[in-house]
Amino acid sequence: MLLLYIHIPFCDSKCFYCSFNSYVDKFHLKSHYMEVLTRELEHELQILKNNNQKLSTIFIGGGTPSSINYASYAQMFKLLKGYINDTTEVTIEANPNSATIDWLKAMKDYGVNRVSFGVQSFNDTKLSFLGRSHNSKRAIKAIQDAQCIGFNSINCDIIYACANDTKELISSDLDMANKLGVEHISSYSLTLEAGTKFWTMKDVSIDDEELSEFVINYLKSLGYHQYEISNFAKNNKFESKHNKGYWEYKEYLGVGCGAVGRIGSNRYYSLSDIESYLRNPLHKEIEILEEKDMKIEKILLGLRSNVGFDLSLLDVNNVEKAHYLEKLGKIKIENSKIYNKNYLLADEIALYLS
Ligand SMILES: C[S@@+](CC[C@H](N)C(=O)[O-])C[C@H]1O[C@@H](n2cnc3c(N)ncnc32)[C@H](O)[C@@H]1O
Ligand code: SF4
Repeated sequence: MLLLYIHIPFCDSKCFYCSFNSYVDKFHLKSHYMEVLTRELEHELQILKNNNQKLSTIFIGGGTPSSINYASYAQMFKLLKGYINDTTEVTIEANPNSATIDWLKAMKDYGVNRVSFGVQSFNDTKLSFLGRSHNSKRAIKAIQDAQCIGFNSINCDIIYACANDTKELISSDLDMANKLGVEHISSYSLTLEAGTKFWTMKDVSIDDEELSEFVINYLKSLGYHQYEISNFAKNNKFESKHNKGYWEYKEYLGVGCGAVGRIGSNRYYSLSDIESYLRNPLHKEIEILEEKDMKIEKILLGLRSNVGFDLSLLDVNNVEKAHYLEKLGKIKIENSKIYNKNYLLADEIALYLS
């Protein structure tokens, strides 16, 4: 069963930290984009149709999927219906401002069963600092609306390690998410990305591993278990099946402008410039992954999350080093798989084992 990622490259405004592929000035292309996207999707799904297969997960991300009106999704979901069954996880990302009750209701009716809100913080000063368009009140309302409509798998993105962040501020953000009863929290340490407003500014982020440890421990104390560096769930059933699929190195389709997919050792990229994509939605740049690169990716993804990786990916020398790390209590080896005990050390451990 394949995973499917669908990209929506529009946002109502650009946040100061974000380098994601999205446009804030090409709204006249929205309806045409949705038509072209659906055509590309139909083409990509042939691979499943021929084998009478379903999708295990669908993730509609962006950009901001809620910046597209719900009626414009009708054709896309009509097509997807044939590839969804009772177990398919269908996630959509939403911005608290544009995720209106009607929009959320329509998503539920279309078969979406997981909503991921870009909240970032419940503190209005911090939200303005990040260049967010919503305020705290609106974020709370959007989450409560989604719950009233019947969504019972909700994620809340939180950003921390911004200038002026204190442990008190971060814990009050996490407390609020917990109080609202969200089942999943993605807590990202602010990274400075080229091309963003923050990139050229000084002192906007705090580089402090101790703060990451604080966030992890605080979330644990609230009853969220960590299953990847930045991802926490109330229990196993609320872990994102889609993201876990990436970390388990499952194959996935990527549809939409700038989307990425991987089948076997072929990683393919759609055109990321929207006009070029609209002219040529089936064009893909193909990267052929070498066996050794795929091994390194599997090891890194496995060490950053609770999926682990097969011992057989290591050569004899490195298997010995792994047993040494196990003795030191850094990793666990079980049923020929290696599991990391501290995801923050993933990169160092990967380097040591390669
Ligand atoms: C596609 S957005 C989520 C949906 C919607 N666009 C929104 O922001 O409300 C994905 C998430 O990535 C995270 N993100 C993006 N750029 C980041 C950065 N530079 N540092 C940390 N987190 C970042 C934010 O938490 C954001 O909510
Ligand atoms: S964080 Fe979300 S809303 Fe802000 S620019 Fe990035 S994709 Fe758009």
